[in-house]
Amino acid sequence: MITNWKSRLLFLIFSWLWVLPVFIFISTGSVTGVGWVVVTFLGLLWAGGVYFQVRSAWRWARRFGSRTVFSAWVMRVAWPHLADRAGLVDGDDNGPELDTVEATHGGWTAVLRTFNHDRELSGLKSHRGYLGRTLGVKELKVRDLGTSIALRAYFDDPLASKLRWPAVPKGSCARDEDGRNVDWPRFHTLVAGATGSGKGSAIWGIIGPEVRSGKPIKLYGCDPKMSEFAGKVESVFESVAFDSDPIAEMLKTVRDLMKERRGQGRDFVQSAENPLIILAIDELPSLYGGMDSKKAKASANNLDEILRQGRSLGVMVVSATQEVTKEIVSARNSYGWRIALRLERAEEVTMLLGQGAVEEGARPHEIAPATPSNGYETAGIGWVRSDSAGLVRVRFPYTSDDDLEQLAAFRPVS
Ligand SMILES: Nc1ncnc2c1ncn2[C@@H]1O[C@H](COP(=O)(O)OP(=O)(O)OP(=O)(O)O)[C@@H](O)[C@H]1O
Ligand SMILES: [Mg+2]
Repeated sequence: MITNWKSRLLFLIFSWLWVLPVFIFISTGSVTGVGWVVVTFLGLLWAGGVYFQVRSAWRWARRFGSRTVFSAWVMRVAWPHLADRAGLVDGDDNGPELDTVEATHGGWTAVLRTFNHDRELSGLKSHRGYLGRTLGVKELKVRDLGTSIALRAYFDDPLASKLRWPAVPKGSCARDEDGRNVDWPRFHTLVAGATGSGKGSAIWGIIGPEVRSGKPIKLYGCDPKMSEFAGKVESVFESVAFDSDPIAEMLKTVRDLMKERRGQGRDFVQSAENPLIILAIDELPSLYGGMDSKKAKASANNLDEILRQGRSLGVMVVSATQEVTKEIVSARNSYGWRIALRLERAEEVTMLLGQGAVEEGARPHEIAPATPSNGYETAGIGWVRSDSAGLVRVRFPYTSDDDLEQLAAFRPVS
């Protein structure tokens, strides 16, 4: 298998070039005796080469679609010209050289060897629109691999269609653009997103697989707006608190449960005696609404304590918020995992995902609003840091009322 694109191109050219003189020989009748043997031998060789090329193109086309194969081929053949047109090649003819092109999930990935890494990286980033249009792809992403650069092409938005629960295996909570499953790292989690961005999907995307795993788990829910955890799904929880007094009580209960676990060692082992405890909070900014200042302070202290000590004791908090303010994310460092669904402003992205996240490619502030008229097409889409692939764009599965009802049937072992 020839992987280098230059060798492939040379192979392609030479496997065809000799056909013309042979054709001339045959048509002018100047082939005799030994000549026929040579022509037959070369003909068989040529037919074999063509057969293998067609077979591999056919296989790739069947696996990835003819559009992918064609576009990857154009990339392979036209790259030097494209790089030149995009101003990536300097006066001495040095520029990013194509190393490999591979068809991948929903498009292709090309790896470029760089000559002047930083200059070529910024050039590719600013010309990715032009390159993408020329290659006929919807989106071209530039990924810095340190000493080389990867170009990832997508024909369609791989996250455009709704994801159903069964599509995401147990243990995972979302799917990224490259079709990889994203696991919940079992950290305290903050889900942030404007109204209708699908915070419910993210919460249930995390909690659902934990409940369905059948492993010992206890769920507590705070829902000051009485929306996400109200109704049939209430039966999945040990209890759900909607009003200020029960909410204050619940924060204390969970904090006490956590305190009982102290001194059990550094690593939490999920068992019937020590179930995983998840405290789910919808609409975090309204959590202390209706409490007098003394109660609000005590409750905030309880939550703070859970956030500071809970993780290693198997007591996890999953909070959802529409607002991303300094106060909300002041406990940001305690929320080891942050999910940015659609947000209004780039500053919110930075506040949530950290300095440099926008430059790294996080675009939650550019997600179009999900509305009933567009069928909530962007709900559940956002950015997270995955332990294997860094900052990634993901989609959380859609959790319908039926799914929630099914979930309630998995009454956790307690
Ligand atoms: N992952 C998803 N895929 C497709 N559609 C979804 C997804 N998640 C939610 N939706 C749709 O979007 C609507 C809004 O979702 P959800 O209630 O979770 O938003 P929210 O962020 O909690 O909004 P609010 O802050 O107003 O409560 C849902 O009613 C549902 O129809
Ligand atoms: Mg909601």
